[in-house]
Amino acid sequence: MNNRPIGVFDSGLGGLTAFKELEKLLPNEDIIYFGDTGRVPYGTKSKETIRKYTIQIIDFLKQHNVKAILAACGTVSSVASDIGMACGIPFVDVLHSTAEAAVFVSTSKRIGIIGTPTTIASGSYEREIATLSPDIHTVAKDCPLFVPLVENGYISPQDEVTRLVAERYLTPVKNENIDTLILGCTHFPIISPIISSVMGENVKLINSGEQAACALTDLLRKNNLLKTSSSPATYQFFVSDTPDNFSSIAEIFLGHEVKGRTDQVQI
Ligand code: DGL
Repeated sequence: MNNRPIGVFDSGLGGLTAFKELEKLLPNEDIIYFGDTGRVPYGTKSKETIRKYTIQIIDFLKQHNVKAILAACGTVSSVASDIGMACGIPFVDVLHSTAEAAVFVSTSKRIGIIGTPTTIASGSYEREIATLSPDIHTVAKDCPLFVPLVENGYISPQDEVTRLVAERYLTPVKNENIDTLILGCTHFPIISPIISSVMGENVKLINSGEQAACALTDLLRKNNLLKTSSSPATYQFFVSDTPDNFSSIAEIFLGHEVKGRTDQVQI
């Protein structure tokens, strides 16, 4: 029983894929969301830089008295999860639950992984999958342009630019005859209609933001940390650049207006 807020963070809009699921799973819970829009993208930056940012964000969320933290970012999860695990409050990343879901749904035992360059270079998802099921064949591909496309609002299922980029990145992955594709960056589910139409309807897409939200929900339940007060959920959004672009794209993706304030902060 714990009425403090949940902290969720990402480099920008991607963590909203986890936020959207949390809204559904835990409609009563208060959430503080931090999007590092002043420093996005993370996925082309060095491990050292991402670790430094992770320390700053976790400190910021702890100052807001959060009861648990969700790193809704594949890149942070791949190179800085140990920092979260050591932060002194319950912490969940996207890796384990996402890999587990992919292993569970794949019948052909051929899984594709797409993510940011830093995530793919780290081999984090392959390691997690190999631990769960060593006989699975994986194919990994970095998709560096997807994050800027999403952050700049090229997210309509009919967007020709994003479709062209997706075809370029995904054709080699499709040719590997996979039946499951991990969207290993939390930005990617925002353009999942395009990814799905390139991959074909037989390939199941695993949304890492959604899986991580389920994992956090389980963790809060098991540790008796759910909110008990019946007050309606409150949401607070913080970004490190101007809130304008964030709010308008967030609304398209969430399918409703951003409930709660969005403020710019320096961390
Ligand atoms: N959404 C993040 C991820 O899951 C970060 C993307 C980026 O900033 O490059 O990897």
